[in-house]
Amino acid sequence: MKNREGKKIFFSLILVAILIALAIPLMAENKKEKSKDASKVDEGYTAKDAWKGKDAEAKSNYAMYCSPCHGDTGKGNGPQAEAMEAPPRNHTDGNYLSTRTDDQLLKVIKGGGLAMGFTSSMPPFDNLLTEEEIKGMVKYVRTLCNCEYKKIGAVK
Ligand code: HEC
Repeated sequence: MKNREGKKIFFSLILVAILIALAIPLMAENKKEKSKDASKVDEGYTAKDAWKGKDAEAKSNYAMYCSPCHGDTGKGNGPQAEAMEAPPRNHTDGNYLSTRTDDQLLKVIKGGGLAMGFTSSMPPFDNLLTEEEIKGMVKYVRTLCNCEYKKIGAVK
């Protein structure tokens, strides 16, 4: 009888131990989740982070929509370049792109070459990209030419 009591206690202790062992990782997980949320609130979503996000978005938009003609690195040598009536602009040419304002670039990307007196080989993107995304493309092109209007090597 005494022995059976002992066994009972022993097994309930094991059961409790197993339950605790199972509960600890769950609690830890919960804590992690909570601290993640807390860091979000604490640090906030800074403008810098927002730009990081936009840069990544612009980069992937460029790879998807522009590189077929302008090339992966913007040199104007994408796979479709040879079939073009006019060569796609070399976006790494700071000498040339520093003669163009952001507004002019925006207009071409938005309305296509025809909007700026160039050829229709440069298609309009206002039906594919939002205004915000097109502004991101202008900024991205500026990183490729490492230039601003009238300034070469201005953008790093
Ligand atoms: C179908 C090919 C093609 C695609 C796709 C394309 N472009 Fe172009 N792009 C051209 C060609 C060709 C020109 C030059 C037009 C000319 O000289 O008449 C050009 C010119 C430009 C210019 C020159 C503007 C200037 O002031 O000289 C910019 C900026 C530009 N493209 C940006 C882009 C961006 C950004 C994308 C992607 C969103 C893109 N292009 C997608 C073919 C293309």
